[in-house]
Amino acid sequence: MKRIGVLVSGGGSNLQAIIDAIKEDRLQAEIGVVISNKAGVYALERAEQNGIPTVVIDHKSFNSVVEFSQAILECLKRYQVDLVCLAGFLRILDRVVIDAYPNRILNIHPALLPAFGGKGMYGHHVHEAVIASGTKYTGATVHIVTPETDVGPIITQGIVGVADDDTPESIAAKVLKVEHQIYPEAIRLLLEDQVVIDGLRVIAKK
Ligand code: GRF
Repeated sequence: MKRIGVLVSGGGSNLQAIIDAIKEDRLQAEIGVVISNKAGVYALERAEQNGIPTVVIDHKSFNSVVEFSQAILECLKRYQVDLVCLAGFLRILDRVVIDAYPNRILNIHPALLPAFGGKGMYGHHVHEAVIASGTKYTGATVHIVTPETDVGPIITQGIVGVADDDTPESIAAKVLKVEHQIYPEAIRLLLEDQVVIDGLRVIAKK
């Protein structure tokens, strides 16, 4: 059974979607550990309710991103994780982690990358930028994590319409629903080795 490590910083609704997909047999895997950089977040409670080991690694107790990332890496190794899923994880990881799991770290972003990504594009900032741009569609993207933020190969995307009366909050809610559908599916594609990664393209195997 492949083991997933999930990194969180908040509510963990995407973590819940992964837990549910495993329970419902849509995903053959187990979550080996949930790591949070913040104590007391609801994602940790979700993990505990499901008997999943949790670890808090507080970024504030390290002198640098490298040291923080090394601690995360040690923990992922200790729990023998095959695939890492960032699920609302609000810290940047140094390449010590990225290099240790080549093409095996996923992130979910609440917009249609490569638009509305990069530095400062998180949470409500994304949806405010979407509304201000006048685009008629937005959505969610699951991509492979590379050292540069939000530019790794795209595994899957889901689309939602932007209505005239949408607010950042209403878009966030619509996008989150789509996130919960596409994240477990993207994990499945990678774990079942169903895709080939060719530069920025992720292509279905025949
Ligand atoms: C999601 O919108 C995700 O796209 C972003 O952070 C949010 C996490 O939500 N990276 P949750 O903690 O999974 O509920």
